[in-house]
Amino acid sequence: MPIFINELLGQFHLQTKESSYIFCVLKNGQLGHLYYGKKVNHRDNFSHLFQLPNEPVGNATFLYKGDQTFSLEVIKQEYPSYGTTDFREPAFHIWYEDGSRITQFVFQSYEVLKGKPKLEGLPATYVDDENDAATLIVTLCDKRTGIKLQLQYSVFEHENVITRSARLINNGKHSVAIERMLSAVVDYPDSQFEMVHLDGAWIRERHVTSRVLQKGVQFIDSKRGTSSSQHNPFFALKRKDTTEHIGEVYGFSLVYSGNFIGGVEVDHYDVARAFIGLNPFDFRWILHPNESFQTPEVVMVYSSNGLNGMSQTYHRLYASHLVRGLWRHRPRPILINNWEATYFQFDEEKLLAIADAAKDLGIELFVLDDGWFEGRNDDTTSLGDWRVDQNKIPNGLSSLAERINEKGLQFGIWIEPEMVSEKSRLYEAHPDWVLKAPNCSTVSHGRNQYILDLTRKDVRDYLYETISHLLKSANITYVKWDMNRNMTEVGSASIEANRQGEVAHRYILGLYELLERLTYTFPHVLFESCASGGNRFDPGMLYYMQQGWASDNTDAFERIKIQYGTSLVYPISSIGAHVSAVPNHQTGRVTPLETRAHVAMFGAFGYELDATALTAQEKQQVKEQILFFKQHRKLLQYGTFYRLLSPFEGTDAAWMVVSDDKKEAIVVFYRLLAKPNPPFVRLHLKGLDVSFKYEVKMEKQTQVLYGDELMHIGLFIPPFYMGTVKTEETVMIGDYVSCLAVLKAVD
Ligand code: DGJ
Repeated sequence: MPIFINELLGQFHLQTKESSYIFCVLKNGQLGHLYYGKKVNHRDNFSHLFQLPNEPVGNATFLYKGDQTFSLEVIKQEYPSYGTTDFREPAFHIWYEDGSRITQFVFQSYEVLKGKPKLEGLPATYVDDENDAATLIVTLCDKRTGIKLQLQYSVFEHENVITRSARLINNGKHSVAIERMLSAVVDYPDSQFEMVHLDGAWIRERHVTSRVLQKGVQFIDSKRGTSSSQHNPFFALKRKDTTEHIGEVYGFSLVYSGNFIGGVEVDHYDVARAFIGLNPFDFRWILHPNESFQTPEVVMVYSSNGLNGMSQTYHRLYASHLVRGLWRHRPRPILINNWEATYFQFDEEKLLAIADAAKDLGIELFVLDDGWFEGRNDDTTSLGDWRVDQNKIPNGLSSLAERINEKGLQFGIWIEPEMVSEKSRLYEAHPDWVLKAPNCSTVSHGRNQYILDLTRKDVRDYLYETISHLLKSANITYVKWDMNRNMTEVGSASIEANRQGEVAHRYILGLYELLERLTYTFPHVLFESCASGGNRFDPGMLYYMQQGWASDNTDAFERIKIQYGTSLVYPISSIGAHVSAVPNHQTGRVTPLETRAHVAMFGAFGYELDATALTAQEKQQVKEQILFFKQHRKLLQYGTFYRLLSPFEGTDAAWMVVSDDKKEAIVVFYRLLAKPNPPFVRLHLKGLDVSFKYEVKMEKQTQVLYGDELMHIGLFIPPFYMGTVKTEETVMIGDYVSCLAVLKAVD
């Protein structure tokens, strides 16, 4: 077991293949943090890691009379509380009925389990085999009220991951109000870090941002009711000299899809306290006696192999221990989506024509996007009425699916179940089902629509029945589950006044419950989550939906940045990526068809264009792209992914994938903007076997090179246009160009 415990000294050592996490029971009964970082040997006694000043600390406050050293202000802790000698960001904040906010949670017991228990009502990483993880649950008890706090740590030893979450169990006689309850806090002995996070906006999601930690509190968060495209529920702390390939980094990824906070406080001793969890803003949860409250899970990764090391760990873990069901580890079908091809203007004939052309290109799945249901000719109407529009599809969905199946394509469909349009039968029948603040006359709209109140069981039951009916009505094997607005005027008519602070979280719990039921009933369906593109691209969604539409931006140039950032945490197989038409609909940019495919292939690959409108030459090119993708799909979606050159640091970008046995690899180099009279480029590859000889096919050239040459000397990128004469050999000319190399080990 990777969990060592010294009962006598009250010390706990969690060890993974490459990291150690050590904590202890302090003399006041609280938990103190001793170390998190590169693996150290286990020893019987870690007491020497506990640091306390020898002399009185001026201006501090102390727990024990006559002892001017024991101040929580200078002690590293596991789950710090508010109100007693520590003035930093606490892990939790609760109000008792008598008005007190002071708690004294002291160590009571611990339990070690094989495997990993489920978290009640929440998505979380899991194991199939109980030997894949071990779990430590430490129980603390509030001296005065008897309320219990359980801290859960699961250790994925081989995956190099530790997950944490907390649970409050009200064993007391009175209700308590939880105003803050984070998933984890980690105290570091210094603050020499940069905080790396993924922020953005609609059609500009998950750009990599980095800032040197400053004194004070710095954080990212969401108050939108979704995890948001503004800030992904993830951040990493890296050392200043850590790169993509070397150096220390700590990742924190929250398995949650709603309001969250993640940040760091640097205090007056220059030490850093990292924290992540549910956003305490506008949050207040009443916990009655005999009830418990469970926080979401945070997945913590320590890597000494730079950001790539951290990402590869997340990719492996999430692909194997977060994604579930039949589609886990399965190559994803190449799809064609009609959204950018037709928007709302289509009929059955048009759809079948696109499907015909798609089949001819080698595409495997046809996805019917928005606009297929009664009255939906623009975005002002009909959400909630999930009945086929007979004007557009006169023979119904079942017949359409059949005809598409007959062509040899699977059939998938778009839905947006969480929403209702004001102009809809559903709204007419149930205006009270809308999420809105009590007695408030305004409900702001977003994309002309309202959010259904998923805190209500009757609403969830209705959605379960309606969506089940729809999915049974035709041979549907793929669902794109959209969600196109943020929450405003958050409140629920069905919840008491003093519990309105629970609504945003209860909504997410309701959504999870609905998704659990639907994915259980339709295990064969591949689900793709979407929220105006990437407004809810998070590990919580990934637990239910095996892939996510990364962004509404399909411009290859922009997608390089979006997919580069997304790959910091999320497996390539989960990143929905499509080739679309040019000029691009979001930016007006014209990029080569080759580059568009070179970007989209590193993801859950597809096309989002009118396949009937392609020229004969484009059709031929697309056929070749699809053939290539099919030959290498497993490697592209499930190989070990390395980011090589960042689009955020220059005008070139590059990444590659390597097979587990290192015998195959695919590398792609993107020149985002042409450089006049450009210098030579040698791209240093990663992850190859130094002693293997690789046949490297790039453009028209085939060479045989050793792994060590490719990694240490580099792969020479083929000739760029030098500004005078374009020859047969010149392949890189102009902006947004790319070249791809396929490596195969040979004897
Ligand atoms: C937003 C999505 O991100 C798009 O891909 C498309 O499905 C539209 N919604 C449809 O309304």
